[in-house]
Amino acid sequence: AQINTNEFYDVVLSLTKNCGQLIKERISSRTKKVETKTGAIDFVTETDQDVERLLIDGLSKAFPDHKFIGEETVSSGAQCDFTDAPTWIIDPVDGTMNFVHSFPHSCISIALFINKLPVIGIIYNPMLDQLFTARKGKGAYLNGQKITVSGTKALADALIMMEFGTSRDPERRKVILENQQNLMPQVHGLRALGSAALNMAMVACGAADAYFEYGIHIWDIAAGEMIITEAGGVVIDPAGGEIDRLSRRVLAASNQELAEQLAKQLVQFYPERD
Ligand code: IPD
Repeated sequence: AQINTNEFYDVVLSLTKNCGQLIKERISSRTKKVETKTGAIDFVTETDQDVERLLIDGLSKAFPDHKFIGEETVSSGAQCDFTDAPTWIIDPVDGTMNFVHSFPHSCISIALFINKLPVIGIIYNPMLDQLFTARKGKGAYLNGQKITVSGTKALADALIMMEFGTSRDPERRKVILENQQNLMPQVHGLRALGSAALNMAMVACGAADAYFEYGIHIWDIAAGEMIITEAGGVVIDPAGGEIDRLSRRVLAASNQELAEQLAKQLVQFYPERD
C-alpha cells in the first residue's frame, strides 16, 4: 500500500527550518566548542550534537515507531542500523569543517528511507537560504521552485564536484590527487564545496554535472540521493553499477551516460564499510 508521507514531510520541514536558524545564529561565533572524532581533521561541534538531538527528539515524539541513523549518535557508539523500517538518516551539520571556519557552506541533510529506499530528502543551507526538498514521485525543489539536473552528457563539458575528505590517510590522499590530476585536463572544471550534501544539491539543480567521493557515510548522501533522482539524475557506485549505501562510495551525475564516462576514468578506492 502507498504510504502517505505528507505528515512526515510537514513535521521534518518545520524541525529542519528551526534547527537551520540555530546553525545560522552560531556559525559566526569564534568560540565554538570543537572536538576531533576519527582523526585530526574530522570534527564535531556542540551544534552538530544539539541539532541532531533536536531533530531526533522532535521526530520520535511525532513518530514513535520510526528509527534513526544519526551521524553523531553513530559516532558516539550507536549501531548504524539500516533496515526496512521507516528510518530517518541525519547529518545535523554536513560541512562541519566549513562551519568551524564560518565558511558559509554547511547544511542540514535529512532523509526518510522506507524499505531501504528514499521517500523524503531535505538539504538546507540556512546561511545562503537554500532549501532543497524532494519527495518520491513529486519532483525536486529549491525554495519551492522546481529544479532539474543539467543536460550535460560529455565529460569534456562537465563541471565536477569532488572532495579532499576528512582523513589524512596517505593512501586515500594519493587516490584523491591521482583522480584530480587525471580529471583536470579532461573536464571543464573541478570544485569542492566542503559538504557532500551541498555538492549533491549542486548536481540536482544543474549548477554542477557530477560528483564522486570515497569515504562518505550514508548520512552524507541519503537526502542528496532523493533530491538528485527526483531532479532527473542518477546516483550509482563510482565503479559503475548500483549504489551500495553502506559502502562509503558514491557517484552522482546528471545522467547515466555522464556517470559511466566518469566512472571509467576513476582510480577506485574501497574504504572499510559501515
Ligand atoms: C563531511 C563533508 C565533506 C566530505 C566528508 C564528509 P561532515 O561530512 O560532507 O565534504 O568530504 O566525506 O564526512 O563530517 O562535515 O558531516
